[in-house]
Amino acid sequence: MRDPVGLLLVGCGRISGAHLAALAGLERDIRLVGVVDADEAAVERTGAQHGVPAFTDLAAGLALRGVDAVLIASPNGLHAAQAAKALAAGKHVLVEKPLAEAGAQARDLAEMAARSGLVLAAGHTYRHNAAVAKLVDTMPQWGTLRAVEVSSCVFWDGPQAPWWAERKPEDGLILSLFAPHSLDFVQLVMGTDDPLRVQVEAARWQPGWQAEDEAMILLGYPGRRMASVHISYNQRSVFDRKVLHFADGVAEIEDGEVLKWNGEILVAPPEGVLVDPRAMGGRKLGHFFAQQMLEFAAAVRGEENRLPTGYDAARLIDLIDRVKAAARSTCAEAVDPEFTA
Ligand SMILES: NC(=O)c1ccc[n+]([C@@H]2O[C@H](COP(=O)([O-])OP(=O)(O)OC[C@H]3O[C@@H](n4cnc5c(N)ncnc54)[C@H](O)[C@@H]3O)[C@@H](O)[C@H]2O)c1
Repeated sequence: MRDPVGLLLVGCGRISGAHLAALAGLERDIRLVGVVDADEAAVERTGAQHGVPAFTDLAAGLALRGVDAVLIASPNGLHAAQAAKALAAGKHVLVEKPLAEAGAQARDLAEMAARSGLVLAAGHTYRHNAAVAKLVDTMPQWGTLRAVEVSSCVFWDGPQAPWWAERKPEDGLILSLFAPHSLDFVQLVMGTDDPLRVQVEAARWQPGWQAEDEAMILLGYPGRRMASVHISYNQRSVFDRKVLHFADGVAEIEDGEVLKWNGEILVAPPEGVLVDPRAMGGRKLGHFFAQQMLEFAAAVRGEENRLPTGYDAARLIDLIDRVKAAARSTCAEAVDPEFTA
């Protein structure tokens, strides 16, 4: 019998609910042992709900007996410093995306973890479903990958968490908050190469936002390979599709979950997952979070896993910086330097 990994959750806000729900079925692998949040009422409530000690101070949480690992789900600007504290305390760390605000920061954290023999992983949640796993495992059989098209279009007409409204001018909007998911997929299938060229069109359709809410990104990779990413906060009929053009045919992932190869369905999601994929919330994502947690427990035990490392996260942050710089150079009126929404 092996002991389950003891997990400290840092940040008891919106997304913590998905992680806590995922943990509920995984007690044999990983279990919650404590919670931390700067908001006393929130942390007391979460601690009481889950029967674990609650702390407003990270250092006190890290000192709790039984903490092997830490999940950081606080606002983006805190991730790097909190991850560094957790690593310095000898804990394995899973950090919600983005791992840090700059690629160099993420790389420093990755090196710190490597030196201490600790796991540092990034919460690129959308990697963790059966369709993506099957695609990654099978694609070597399909010949050269020439081109990837990603469309990820949803509807948000205002900040989904308070810190969305407190962002710095240079952060932009959808390129910072939503593009990472699509670009992580592109990096996953493109392998270790970074793009040679990055071109971006960005626009703002909703007057309530003060930065871009729609963008198209074009990436040119070594070996004549290319990728396009269309992201939107303006599509009420949610649209999520990935198309990959290989030498031997076309792979598609529809609604994030259905993998097809030349039209034939290879992977379908568990029943009840695609309730209404054209509506926000019409796709149940619990299995992504549960799988991510299992991968983290495996990583902590030194087993094979599919989690992106700190180095993967650093490459993604570098790419997002290049994308934002390209958008600022071509579409400054959309990426407003006066962002205060
Ligand atoms: N993987 C995904 O699909 C996904 C989805 C949504 C959000 N996220 C990420 O999760 C993170 C949290 O997002 P959210 O939407 O839950 O935000 P949120 O604002 O709802 O939650 C953040 C929580 O952190 C707490 N907090 C603030 N300062 C703190 C501190 N110093 N120490 C500890 N806790 C502190 C806040 O009180 C709040 O409860 C973000 O980094 C976001 O990018 C990921």
